[in-house]
Amino acid sequence: MGIPLMDLSVSLGPLTLKNPIMTASGCCEYGLELAEFFPLDSIGAVVVKGLSPKPRKGNPIPRIAETSSGMLNSIGLQNIGVDAFIREKLPDLLSLGATVAANIFGETIEDYVMLARFCNEAGIPALELNLSCPNVHKGGMEFGVDPDVLHEITSRCRAVYAGSLWVKLTPNITSIVPLAEAAKSAGADAVTCINTLRGMAIDIKTGKPKLHTIFGGLSGPAIKPVALRFTYEVASRVGIPVIGCGGIVRVEDIVEFLLAGATAVQVGTILFREPDCPTTLVHGLSSFMEARGLSSIHDLIGKMVRHGTP
Ligand SMILES: Cc1cc2nc3c(=O)[nH]c(=O)nc-3n(C[C@H](O)[C@H](O)[C@H](O)COP(=O)(O)O)c2cc1C
Repeated sequence: MGIPLMDLSVSLGPLTLKNPIMTASGCCEYGLELAEFFPLDSIGAVVVKGLSPKPRKGNPIPRIAETSSGMLNSIGLQNIGVDAFIREKLPDLLSLGATVAANIFGETIEDYVMLARFCNEAGIPALELNLSCPNVHKGGMEFGVDPDVLHEITSRCRAVYAGSLWVKLTPNITSIVPLAEAAKSAGADAVTCINTLRGMAIDIKTGKPKLHTIFGGLSGPAIKPVALRFTYEVASRVGIPVIGCGGIVRVEDIVEFLLAGATAVQVGTILFREPDCPTTLVHGLSSFMEARGLSSIHDLIGKMVRHGTP
């Protein structure tokens, strides 16, 4: 007999997730390849690879490099395009009972609005605006570092999208608070903290950069303290629900994010090594709560005990 699951449900605006654990965009394509490792309906949501209006080939290889406690990627948003996703992948995801969040990316503001309208018409229950990808020349992070542009994209997507709307923020800034405030005032239901940190690596045998694009996005355990800090700053200072993301590999990491104020979390890089980890983490979180006599996930969310400034 398995461990009895507790009520781990959390709400992000109009959407209630059965538990707070999701996949992070780009780390499991469209989620379908994970179905052989665990039932997709056992986790809060499957966040799919960033979708653009047209298919994209992404950046030239090499575009992945391992680092001591994480990885660098410069995939450049390779994807099949929103039409093909809705026609070819969404029906399979829905038939497996997955709660789907579409991560979208555009080169112009109009691209974002068009993508949001498509996702609304397709009935996709959650939409994550990728305003934070560091690996493309146009769009992505370029939009996400300016609170005014972020506000405009979010409010225009809000006007055409009725589901749960999330804005994924970049850590490649000085202060995250104005960006989260802009997302909140534009009507977002949550912000995702964080996308990858821009970094680089060099092959000392050849003297060449390990990535074709020289720079890439750093993810994995190396970025967890940064993601946790941004989660805490946004949750405590802006008061919009936060989806914590960055370096989560164990149940204890999730508990830290929840204590810092995250309402839900996403797991990314760990999926390449342990594709079955989302379901293991759901059971682990339930056991953690049971061992401490907690009956509600809300007994953890935002319950960090402060013993100093800030
Ligand atoms: C190979 C790869 C591809 C990614 N593609 C996307 C993407 O399409 N859209 C997006 O918003 N984030 C993308 N990300 C960022 C992740 O969703 C996540 O924010 C980041 O990896 C931090 O979480 P982690 O440390 O658990 O991996 C990608 C990350 C990786 C490693």
